[in-house]
Amino acid sequence: MKHNIAVLLSGNGSNLKAIINKGINVSFVASNNPKALGLRIAKNHNIPSYFWKNVSELEEEVLKLIVEYDVKLLVLAGYMRLLSKNFVNSLPSKFIVNVHPSLLPKYKGMNAIKQAIDDCAEFTGVTIHYVDEDMDSGSIIRQDIIKIHEIDTAESLKDRLQLIEHHLYSDTIKSILKKNSQD
Ligand code: GRF
Repeated sequence: MKHNIAVLLSGNGSNLKAIINKGINVSFVASNNPKALGLRIAKNHNIPSYFWKNVSELEEEVLKLIVEYDVKLLVLAGYMRLLSKNFVNSLPSKFIVNVHPSLLPKYKGMNAIKQAIDDCAEFTGVTIHYVDEDMDSGSIIRQDIIKIHEIDTAESLKDRLQLIEHHLYSDTIKSILKKNSQD
């Protein structure tokens, strides 16, 4: 049996693309942003896609879709809203995963890459973690580290981090689905 994931996103969807290209079965994609490029990527791959600007409505509908599509893992891929306590607590623990462009617990929040540069950090990286009701605070599943070069800008660093994300996130999702199916 194929194990399905659902993806929540707000933007470009480059992680969604990488996940699809790795052959992971995406049941549906949902967004709070009707203009998210990720929604177009979903459509191009014939993946059902939904958007609700209102975040409480989105959460309510996504909970229903998770049951309808028998989703096994909810994947946040650039979803720029904090999930409500009620939403997170309506799902089993370790059901939601996220990718964040820093070595958590360092540099939580929206501008993690700029924070690392402003801090003159020598290293930064990518963290894949389970999602709980606080921001970027759930238990860490995997991390990968890179050196920040003197010539790095927020843009160049973002590009290098995204290359890591695309491999690390899909591989991690694959192993979680595999492990869950064996339990
Ligand atoms: C990623 O860089 C991820 O670290 C952060 O949001 C970004 C989403 O990028 N959480 P994309 O939409 O997958 O291209």
